Amino acid sequence: MATNRTFTMLKPDAVGAGNTGAIIKRIEEAGFKIIAMKKTQLSAALAGQFYAIHKERPFYKDLCAYMSSGTIVPMILEKDNAVEDFRKLIGATDPKKAAPGTIRADFAESIEANAIHGSDSDENAAIEGSFFFSAFEQF
Ligand code: PPS
Repeated sequence: MATNRTFTMLKPDAVGAGNTGAIIKRIEEAGFKIIAMKKTQLSAALAGQFYAIHKERPFYKDLCAYMSSGTIVPMILEKDNAVEDFRKLIGATDPKKAAPGTIRADFAESIEANAIHGSDSDENAAIEGSFFFSAFEQF
């Protein structure tokens, strides 16, 4: 089943702007089933752990500060070819480069406040999902 799942989180800009429901509607209309979902806020330390893979990148500190600045909505999603299809649905990291009709093109503000995260591999989807959800929450 892991190969049919991906992990996402709605970022503080999307939640703060009241776009949670609209974005979840897009996700469900694209055929993704919500396996697990919660509303929470990361501490800077937890954001640092989640994004540790980017710790050498120049924007790491800003990214961690931003991702701990407000409410987020993490979710585990299921669909055939979930990781790749979800990355297509959300569009490019920089909303200026995101294809029309993608979630980031329609809801993101900037490369930092870009509305939504999507895992980049099956392996990372499983790791990221387990960062937020216990095993019994993933059924
Ligand atoms: S990806 O999805 O890993 O291929 O995207 P990438 O471009 O490598 O970016 C990784 C995450 O870092 C965020 N990001 C930034 N944050 C702040 N400032 C700048 N300049 C910046 N550039 C990239 C980007 O939104 C990615 O976050 P996630 O949560 O993975 O989407």
